[in-house]
Amino acid sequence: MTHTPVAIIGAGPAGLTLAHLLHHNYGIESVVFESRSRQEVEETVRAGVLEQGTMRLMRETGVGDRMDREADIDDAIELAIDGERTRIDLAGLTGHHMAVYPQHEYLKDFIARRLADGQPILFNTTVDDVTGYDDDQVTITYTGEDGGQLQLTADYVMAGDGSASPNRKLITELPGAVRSKHEYPFAWFGILVNAPKTQKELIYANSPDGFALISTRSDTVQRYYLQCNPEDSVDMWSDERIWEELHKRVSTDDLRVAEGEIFDKAVLRFRSAVTDPMQRGRLFLAGDAAHTVPPTGAKGLNLAVADVSVLAPGLARAIKKNNTDLLDQYSALAVPRVWKAQHFSYWMSSMLHTVPEDPYFQTQRSRAELRSVLATEAGRKYLAEQYVGIDLPTFEV
Ligand code: PHB
Repeated sequence: MTHTPVAIIGAGPAGLTLAHLLHHNYGIESVVFESRSRQEVEETVRAGVLEQGTMRLMRETGVGDRMDREADIDDAIELAIDGERTRIDLAGLTGHHMAVYPQHEYLKDFIARRLADGQPILFNTTVDDVTGYDDDQVTITYTGEDGGQLQLTADYVMAGDGSASPNRKLITELPGAVRSKHEYPFAWFGILVNAPKTQKELIYANSPDGFALISTRSDTVQRYYLQCNPEDSVDMWSDERIWEELHKRVSTDDLRVAEGEIFDKAVLRFRSAVTDPMQRGRLFLAGDAAHTVPPTGAKGLNLAVADVSVLAPGLARAIKKNNTDLLDQYSALAVPRVWKAQHFSYWMSSMLHTVPEDPYFQTQRSRAELRSVLATEAGRKYLAEQYVGIDLPTFEV
């Protein structure tokens, strides 16, 4: 049976970033298991904003070149209330930028780099069972591409297998473990459009008809979102209805949302969830397997990167120095940042969306909150700092 220091379940942001940090920063090998094909991983549509810390990590560990060449690196975002636009000068207020770089492009860069480094990613491979995490050694039982079942042993295992992770229950079944959830009374209808940019910077628009977000993918492909009902299905939104709603919510006399052929439509549910602790013995959770954030703040990928920025040095210290101090502190160090991201995503979501059933008092209060934030430099600065993200933690090994 083969042995690896770290088994990693899931070739998403958490898994691929952890594998890369272990190899690049500490020379530690790992095996990445992924149930989907490489093509599916590289084509799945997800959100697209990188925090300043994530951009920096990519540059400092040699995977930032394409991002620097191809991403839209912006100084600012815009918030529009009933067509009245306020520019949030991220660069001026924080000294940092943000990048619009879709998650699947991030994954492509990390996959290419790992394969170039000669390190394994087992695509089309399902993990059937994880055992031994409470003892001295982990055993992973898995079914490979050819249908045969195999086993691998590891010193540690990280489950980064997304919000439906079957491994999370190994932790949530522990006495005292918490799985805390929140559901929102709205969702997003996301579309991809062949169109030129409406403008260079992202627009977050709030109106009595609901929220809309104008984002981008390239000079010729745009990503737009519209607030919709969580029960809506794709066939309830004709192209005509989409354009009508987008113009009502965003377009003004001097700004018109760029139209084009719509080639992808999807409903995105809004959910928050936090798991605490994120570890049990030799098993660790990271990214969506541990926590989910609604898409408004685009924190999902960035939070996975923050988790593994603690986990990678923790594992390295345990493996190289036989010292588990940092690893034992993983949940205590990672969970507070998860709650901060939950708060920011919840705050942005509730402030920018209109809930038709809300009492008049709530609607007006929420409007006033948004106006207060935009009207003061302190308010804009708070929003900007949270948006570009607090620095990633760093630890000596
Ligand atoms: C996206 O482009 O997918 C995107 C951008 C900003 C957000 C969320 C999603 O806040």
